[in-house]
Amino acid sequence: MFPIRNFRRFFNKFLKQPFYALKVAKKRFLIKLSYKLKFKEALMPEAITIFLTHRCNLSCKMCGQWGEMGITRKQDSLIVNELSFETLQEFIDQISFFRPNITLFGGEPLLYKDCVKLVRYIKEKKLHCLIITNGWLLEEKIIDLVNAGLDELNISLDGAQELHDSIRGLPGLFNKIAKGLIKLKMIKQKNKLKKPLLNIQTTINQYNYLRLEELLDVAENFGANSLTFHNLIFVFHANIEKQKEIDKILNNSSSNWEGFLFSPNIDVDILYKKIKKILSNKYSFDVDFYPNFSYKELKEYYLNPAYKPKQYSFCCLSPWTAAYVFPDGSIKPCLNFSYSFGNIKDKSFKQIWNSQNAKFFRKVLQQNKAFPICTRCTELFRY
Ligand SMILES: C[S@@+](CC[C@H](N)C(=O)[O-])C[C@H]1O[C@@H](n2cnc3c(N)ncnc32)[C@H](O)[C@@H]1O
Repeated sequence: MFPIRNFRRFFNKFLKQPFYALKVAKKRFLIKLSYKLKFKEALMPEAITIFLTHRCNLSCKMCGQWGEMGITRKQDSLIVNELSFETLQEFIDQISFFRPNITLFGGEPLLYKDCVKLVRYIKEKKLHCLIITNGWLLEEKIIDLVNAGLDELNISLDGAQELHDSIRGLPGLFNKIAKGLIKLKMIKQKNKLKKPLLNIQTTINQYNYLRLEELLDVAENFGANSLTFHNLIFVFHANIEKQKEIDKILNNSSSNWEGFLFSPNIDVDILYKKIKKILSNKYSFDVDFYPNFSYKELKEYYLNPAYKPKQYSFCCLSPWTAAYVFPDGSIKPCLNFSYSFGNIKDKSFKQIWNSQNAKFFRKVLQQNKAFPICTRCTELFRY
């Protein structure tokens, strides 16, 4: 269902959203069972991530998509693709029968012109909806997002004020986000609302790892429900080279992973001490590090090119559990692969999810447990 190390995350989720947490746990259990028993057809997924747009107004230093090394910005032809609201509406109609949890992602999802309208529609269909945003447009959209019934707002914050702005490359960004978050706090207090839950997510990187504790005050001031520190996703050349053998079998390109080809430059001993110190205190919100590593694992994760996550099961269940919808309509098993299961403009989701392409991908993946490029991917630590 979930590794024992993720139990605390699950428990905290359960306290805040009991029905949702139980639904997720039950679905993951069934999916894991179907994986172990090698069902011919995959069960419908627990989660659907809709990648609304490749566009982003930021160029964050550590971002594998749009950062200094990012791959998306080099592909102008990709960036113009976006699905119409009508196509997404029809898609939501097709999938609502199995009640997946929806995440709106990008690029920057709030740049998609009908983002709020889509949240409203997803909530009309009574599906759980979460958005991951850089918050630049929050101040002007927050009232509508709350009224639309958004369940969870994940805001990316990598530091307090000037540190955040420098990592994200946009002076004034932190203050603009702050205005949106203060507005959210006031609306929730005035109307006695619990939702949307506010989750702050911080990506640990070479620029902020010495100052992680500054985020604790930030989360407190904004009335956050949780603060999650995500370990940095990056790849070594060795991962890319080994992946090429798999790519040949799948007729896949994993070149988008090249945006994550950088050295983390993190002193693991200092980071580990910081983690211990932060976790030794109590806060008015949940604080978590993801993945939640021991000292030995943390060292391996950041320093060893041949690292494999042994304490978490080293097998990827993501293509059984989650579907990614891309701005061109393709359904993909992974954010950084070209491999597609099919396109929602041509076929129904049900057809695509168990198409020949989907089955072949799952077969090759299950034979390998996980692919060489995937060793530091977030999805590997979720299930
Ligand atoms: C790629 S962004 C897309 C959504 C939105 N534009 C935002 O900034 O939240 C999603 C999250 O990935 C995080 N991220 C960026 N680069 C990362 C990396 N190399 N490893 C792990 N997380 C990363 C960002 O900080 C952000 O919280």
